[in-house]
Amino acid sequence: MSSQWWREAAIYQVYPRSFQDSNGDGEGDLKGVISRLGYLKDLGIDAIWLSPFYTSPNNDGGYDVADPRDVDPRFGNLKDAESLIEKAHEIGLKIIVDIVPNHFSTEHRWFKEALASNPGSQARSRFHFFDGRGVDGEIPPNNWCSIFGGPAWTRVRENDGSLGQWYLHLFDSTQADLNWENPEVWSDFESTLRFWLDKGVDGFRIDVAHGLAKEEILKDHRDPEGLTRALRLDVSDMAREERESLLSDVPFFDREGVHEIYRRWRRIFDSYPGERMSVAEAWVHPSSRAVRYVRSDELHQIFNFDFLIAEWEANFLKAAIDKTLTEVAEVSAPATWVLCNHDSPRLVSRLGGGEVGRKKARAMALLTHALPGGIYIYQGEELGLEDVALPDSARQDPVFFRTKGVDKGRDGARVPIPWQANEKSYGFSTGQPWLPMPDYWSELSVESQSKPESHLAMYRQSIHLRKEIKEDLEKNVEGENGATSLHWLTSPKGVLAFTRGENFALFANTNDHEILLPLADVMPGHARAGHRGNWIVALSSSREAALVAETLTLPPHTTIWLRSAPK
Ligand code: GLC
Ligand code: CA
Repeated sequence: MSSQWWREAAIYQVYPRSFQDSNGDGEGDLKGVISRLGYLKDLGIDAIWLSPFYTSPNNDGGYDVADPRDVDPRFGNLKDAESLIEKAHEIGLKIIVDIVPNHFSTEHRWFKEALASNPGSQARSRFHFFDGRGVDGEIPPNNWCSIFGGPAWTRVRENDGSLGQWYLHLFDSTQADLNWENPEVWSDFESTLRFWLDKGVDGFRIDVAHGLAKEEILKDHRDPEGLTRALRLDVSDMAREERESLLSDVPFFDREGVHEIYRRWRRIFDSYPGERMSVAEAWVHPSSRAVRYVRSDELHQIFNFDFLIAEWEANFLKAAIDKTLTEVAEVSAPATWVLCNHDSPRLVSRLGGGEVGRKKARAMALLTHALPGGIYIYQGEELGLEDVALPDSARQDPVFFRTKGVDKGRDGARVPIPWQANEKSYGFSTGQPWLPMPDYWSELSVESQSKPESHLAMYRQSIHLRKEIKEDLEKNVEGENGATSLHWLTSPKGVLAFTRGENFALFANTNDHEILLPLADVMPGHARAGHRGNWIVALSSSREAALVAETLTLPPHTTIWLRSAPK
């Protein structure tokens, strides 16, 4: 096993409910994932990150956990989880599971106990229960808003039937925020970590990792609605200065107290055999604060969402790459790159949709896959799926309901995976899929993408090839940071160009016109080093890309990988 496998890993996110259904109830499950392990192995990935499959009323896609140490019947049972871990390991795939420490479902035993207990009780102190303001306590303890819309507080009925205290929920009202000042919360999560570590998982994705410690919980915020809009990845009509000012100080995110928790967790991970890892979902601002989560005694990785909101635009991308690599180098952590996930629009759609969106998405993926660090791929990204315009009647995301339909929510990116071209529900399920699958997806199915120029084939090649490139860099590049750095080449406007080591070069044309580029103009050093004429196109995001007579033809919205061939 190579050391610190996660540093440059390709990690694939499975959203179990939408991956593969094994029993015809229309929802994906763990047995379904097991049946598709071969597909994932072929793709060349190193690890699978599974979104939650724990006991849950499923009001927020399982991120409302009612028992973190058991499997929800809709996904199977604990035996299935054990068998998935075992079978993945047998074929050399690692398993990362989600942990959701910011909140519990209101169906969790603890919350029921809290409801049955009196104000001020030990049971209530596991959550954030407070009296309301106003004559009858009818005004919430503060003015914070839920990130899913509406107030961040819900009032409960006390045992005598009267309206009583309020509890905090930064997300849905069925997701009660936990009070991390209470040592019981610490020990319960440690039990959960150990439970899954004992079962052999290789790591954890930590949900809302920046949210656990809260400060000034009874103070109003100057602009609570603005703040939640600033925090939403799908809101784009806010002025940058306004957003930055709001995000620079969020009383419930990125408080100093979170780091103590992760230092403690790190000691637990390190006490287990093998190389267990963790990755934080912590979208903090400015990004220089993000690397504080991956200091050497804290977590291993943090998602870098710069590319998740990036346009296909050279200056922005170059600046984001430089900033990320500089920041992670300060703490000796690896970079990560994320193009989409279950909370964001799908990449092709975000980049404009249709043929052009697809072209840009392919080019963006090849750019990302060649960068130093780890990559995360969200299921269906490798197929070039787009968001689905669902009828409102099919929607299930609490965002849709809490904003009264103003925000459509995230269901469009969660539609099940099409496997077969002509089967019912494209082979996802023999029953009725939980979200309707479009009737035009046949061409996008896994089965239809066997040709070498398909989206899927390109992902397979890039995931395999990036491993070779990495091995080559490790062998041939000297110096501590040699293998993890890149060297920019001077290139025409709208073109990104860099080398990594002596044998790899990348060119990305973000322009909507073709660029002809004589290699000697951009890589004079490499020409002198004796490589002239040895470069070959290793991979390209469009078929028209070419290297003829030492001149590169870069079609619009295209990324091309060059490797130098042995002499
Ligand atoms: C994270 C999850 C998201 C969920 C939220 C609340 O952001 O990725 O799906 O809704 O946390 O748990
Ligand atoms: Ca099922």
